[in-house]
Amino acid sequence: MASAPASPAAYPARRLRRLRRTPALRRMVAETRVSVDDLVAPLFVREGSAEPEPIASMPGQYQHSVASLVAEAKRLVSLGVPGLVLFGVPEPATRDAVGSGAWDPDGIAQRALGELRSALGDQMVLMADTCLDEYTEHGHCGVLGADGGVDNDATLECYQQVAVAQAEAGADLVAPSGMMDGQVGALRAALDGAGHQQVGIMAYAAKYASALYGPFRDAVDVSIAGGGDRRTYQQDPANRREARAEVAQDVAEGADIVMVKPALTSLDVIADVRRAVDVPVAAYQVSGEYAMVKAAAERGWVDGAAVALEQVTAIRRAGADIVLTYFAAELAEHLGRR
Ligand code: PBG
Repeated sequence: MASAPASPAAYPARRLRRLRRTPALRRMVAETRVSVDDLVAPLFVREGSAEPEPIASMPGQYQHSVASLVAEAKRLVSLGVPGLVLFGVPEPATRDAVGSGAWDPDGIAQRALGELRSALGDQMVLMADTCLDEYTEHGHCGVLGADGGVDNDATLECYQQVAVAQAEAGADLVAPSGMMDGQVGALRAALDGAGHQQVGIMAYAAKYASALYGPFRDAVDVSIAGGGDRRTYQQDPANRREARAEVAQDVAEGADIVMVKPALTSLDVIADVRRAVDVPVAAYQVSGEYAMVKAAAERGWVDGAAVALEQVTAIRRAGADIVLTYFAAELAEHLGRR
């Protein structure tokens, strides 16, 4: 005679455990999958570099020369990574008050985009960071007004020129990262006006003023004049509801993809945004998130590859369709081996 269970309450718990017993069972019931198809690699290209320069605070990442950038992009294609987002690092001497190098047809990002497009055709989605901070002498994401603060509307006119230059150089999507009000609508109008209706906009829609961008400033050689910060245009990490308003505004203005950034400190925001919109949602696992994992792994304190996969899984579980991550190539290699 079968013995009765200790308590009926034990059944549901046993059911859950039964489905965890073997790798195949776990794989079959997994709610979230990380695929190489979800990944976008951020890459840096530096003007005047003949050789790739390692970025000290981001082990494994480089300020590429145009040639090494193209080689890295080809490697990403062979790994199956569908997209990259490009940041240009101009010669310091070319930086000026308005960041005009950002829309110079011969500027570093435009030249690199052209080379990528001719080397890769349509094998990879080419996204371009649409911002001024790498190109201004003061390091802010916009032009400064008489009061020393960023002048939102004057900045929009610059962004329009940047987006058109990037579209002309071959970008599939432009990615405005400066958190200026009205930036998506301004770019849509400028792109359409220049005949680039097919070029999309991935909006940095909910972008927080985060200390986790620290290593990125090394990657692009930017420091903000006078020890300033971006708290007047990027969001306060204390605020969750306002992210929905930022995202709704960008979708209304025509964003094709909305992005939340940083990723791990914004899992609640990613979940909110996923519920609120129908367009694809991207999340950016930023430089500081990458650097923390790398630093701990170098000390042998964590298994870096396992932590990276776990974090990207959590970002996807929260609701991100697309993950921008410096781990893209490593994860693609790892996923390909499984
Ligand atoms: C601004 C920009 C930043 C990042 C992407 N675009 C820096 C900032 O807002 O201060 C950060 C990306 C990262 O940390 O990986 N153009």
